[in-house]
Amino acid sequence: MATDTILTTLRAEHDELRGLFDKLKDTTDRAEKTRGELLDKILAGLVPHAKWEELVFYPEFKARADRDGLQTHAEAVAEHRAVEMRVIPDVLNAELTTPEFAGRSKVFGEFIDHHATEEENTMFKMAKTLFSTDELVQLDADYKAWKASDDGQAAVQQAMAEFQAA
Ligand SMILES: [Fe+2]
Ligand SMILES: [Fe+2]
Repeated sequence: MATDTILTTLRAEHDELRGLFDKLKDTTDRAEKTRGELLDKILAGLVPHAKWEELVFYPEFKARADRDGLQTHAEAVAEHRAVEMRVIPDVLNAELTTPEFAGRSKVFGEFIDHHATEEENTMFKMAKTLFSTDELVQLDADYKAWKASDDGQAAVQQAMAEFQAA
């Protein structure tokens, strides 16, 4: 098997999230437990991914980007902000057994799919030319270590508290 790079890891996580959102979309209003479990899994996958992009990957990318790269970076940051400040809090404020939850979580999934596809088709393609393979492998190792670290876990907890308070 080829060595993981940060790009293959982030891409695999996008696919995992897409799969979870597909399952969530298929649930009925009566599936309270399943909806709750799927939402927990989505947030457990998404939040460390998004926070690390914001803290490490996006700044590293921005530091090397040309004008088009800077626009791509600005788009990605704006999408993160929209999801974090509006879309996720709306989902968390809906009762799991309601059409509001079904509608809001569908929008959540559509935002994530759109954002992930943009990253894959623009930012990650640019990153392949801006970083060496060794750097992309190192970033992957850094990401995995950060996720398991106290710092990583604290960043995730803080983000979750902000969504609940928004
Ligand atoms: Fe992102
Ligand atoms: Fe991503």
